[in-house]
Amino acid sequence: MITYGVMELAPGAFHLKQHLSLPQQRAVVESCRALIDGAVPGYVPVVRGGGKMHVRMLCLGRHWNGTTYRYEEARSDYDQLPVPPLPTGLRELARNIAAAAEMKLDPDLCILNYYGADGRMGLHQDKDESAESLAAGVPVVSISLGDTARFLFGGLRRRDPVQPVLLESGDAFVFGGPARLRYHGVSRIVPATAPPELGLDGRFNLTFRQY
Ligand code: SIN
Ligand code: MN
Repeated sequence: MITYGVMELAPGAFHLKQHLSLPQQRAVVESCRALIDGAVPGYVPVVRGGGKMHVRMLCLGRHWNGTTYRYEEARSDYDQLPVPPLPTGLRELARNIAAAAEMKLDPDLCILNYYGADGRMGLHQDKDESAESLAAGVPVVSISLGDTARFLFGGLRRRDPVQPVLLESGDAFVFGGPARLRYHGVSRIVPATAPPELGLDGRFNLTFRQY
């Protein structure tokens, strides 16, 4: 039985509204801040073709290289620093969220993104994990904190219609199985919608994956 409060948007795609309590959100926000301003800091990736992304990114566990679209141990597209480990507590949290949607994830990497007021992310597929992981439909678990995002959830082809979903602070989103390769993106952030208790301007999003 799927936990109460879990909405299935499409086969394999689940929106878990208000899944994290405010104290949980506060704790994860504190981790995100410490990580993104830590010894190996977040940065704005420049992707293939030379465009800058509209988020500040930090990879944990494995580094996603924005020019090769491959994972690696050190940030060869930026400063050569080794990728920080994925903290155990975050890993456990993501595993439990997947289980709440009746899916199995043992994440070994997470991409942490910070969106300012003008943050956004174009429509894309998450398809740089191993062929085995993608073929098995091992889910991506996403956690949203701070300002609300207008998330777009599409189909398996770029031209398929997209469904707008408001991802609010404390929401989780899980997409695996037949939904694993659906296109998705963030069209905009709704400024000043973060719970005041978080003291956060903007939005953190964490996406956990299993390579
Ligand atoms: C992503 O697709 O990598 C990020 C999604 C989000 O920010 O909600
Ligand atoms: Mn993605």
